[in-house]
Amino acid sequence: MKLLVCGGAGFIGSAFIRRTLAKHPDWQINNLDKLTYAGNLDNLREVEDDPRYRFVQGDIVDSEVVLEAAQGVDAIVNFAAETHVDRSIAEPEAFLYTDIIGTHTLLEAVRELGISRMVQVSTDEVYGSIEEGSCDEAYPIAPSSPYSASKAGGDLQVMADHRTYGTPAMITRGSNTYGPHQYPEKLIPLFVTNALEGEQLPLYGDGLNVRDWLHVDDHADGIAFVLEHGEPGHAYNIGGGNERTNLEITGIILDELDLSDDIIQRVLDRPGHDRRYSLDCARLADMGWAPQVEFEQGLRQTIRWYRDNQWWWKKIKYGTEDFAEWKKRWYEERI
Ligand code: NAD
Ligand code: DAU
Repeated sequence: MKLLVCGGAGFIGSAFIRRTLAKHPDWQINNLDKLTYAGNLDNLREVEDDPRYRFVQGDIVDSEVVLEAAQGVDAIVNFAAETHVDRSIAEPEAFLYTDIIGTHTLLEAVRELGISRMVQVSTDEVYGSIEEGSCDEAYPIAPSSPYSASKAGGDLQVMADHRTYGTPAMITRGSNTYGPHQYPEKLIPLFVTNALEGEQLPLYGDGLNVRDWLHVDDHADGIAFVLEHGEPGHAYNIGGGNERTNLEITGIILDELDLSDDIIQRVLDRPGHDRRYSLDCARLADMGWAPQVEFEQGLRQTIRWYRDNQWWWKKIKYGTEDFAEWKKRWYEERI
């Protein structure tokens, strides 16, 4: 099996590459990644010299680059996306470009090269806020942010291409993912790294928004399962079954680091902030797949990983201008 992984230098894509190469000694992976602010080759240090692995820096919107990187592959797994909801509110264009046009370019390559399978990695955010109950894959799509609207645009293209051209593509819709190597703008790594540096934790609104947390290894494995066992034209929810408020998450972080809740800072809420996400994952469960990582243990291990690998996130927070610029732009007006 030879794969083209797009966006493999990011948080979940890099976990997928590391785990796939470890599990399948005879598989090869081309990793096509633009290396935006979120792309990080430090995430791939353990495979960079592996002869089965090849890195190509490039943009999934560029069809020439995609066609070259996809030569001879059996399948494409697309992680490449702009992924931060707050950035999509501040500056949406890049989201439309990568998450919509980029997905289209990959679908065209699948058709042109006759590639056997494509997995489009999507998100539970396409369903919008779920005030009650849980949503299965037939639930209507109702995105709230420019990010989730762009991801929904990718999903709709996959479905339409399958129906129109028979393109052998499928979708995964994962829930909020946590673990090592996550860019420290997202809730858990932001709060852990701020806490480690004695900074405040900017909690939006009343802190009672609910997310369903999934360990990155489980997310990567769920996507691998869909790649092998999914049916083209179908979507697959991948949830952790761990619904927690942001305040509960913050409490575990403070407890693990032995800090008091004085460092919680209530800040202006995110506009359009979805109250709750909740996935019905019966489809994958019926096929025999379930997440493995126990939540509180996984979260505490993750917190310790950021405590013990400060070189990794300090390089991001202080090695370039991006993080500081984002922090100033977004948080100054919320405090
Ligand atoms: P990330 O932001 O950590 O990484 C995204 C990667 O895509 C980076 O390496 C970046 O350089 C690359 N990239 C961005 N634009 C590109 C382009 N035009 N061409 C090529 N590469 C490009 O993202 P992540 O958290 O690992 O998420 C991966 C996928 O999973 C995304 O599609 C996201 O929507 C989805 N997802 C994420 C979560 C989560 O909680 N993190 C949950 C559900 C679904
Ligand atoms: O649900 C899946 C999605 O999860 C993915 O598709 C996205 O790519 C990923 O970024 C994530 O989106 P969220 O918006 O849920 O994640 P984020 O870490 O940005 O926020 C999680 C919750 O924490 C949310 O309710 C907002 C809140 N929050 C976030 C930040 C950054 C705060 O209270 N303060 C903050 O500073």
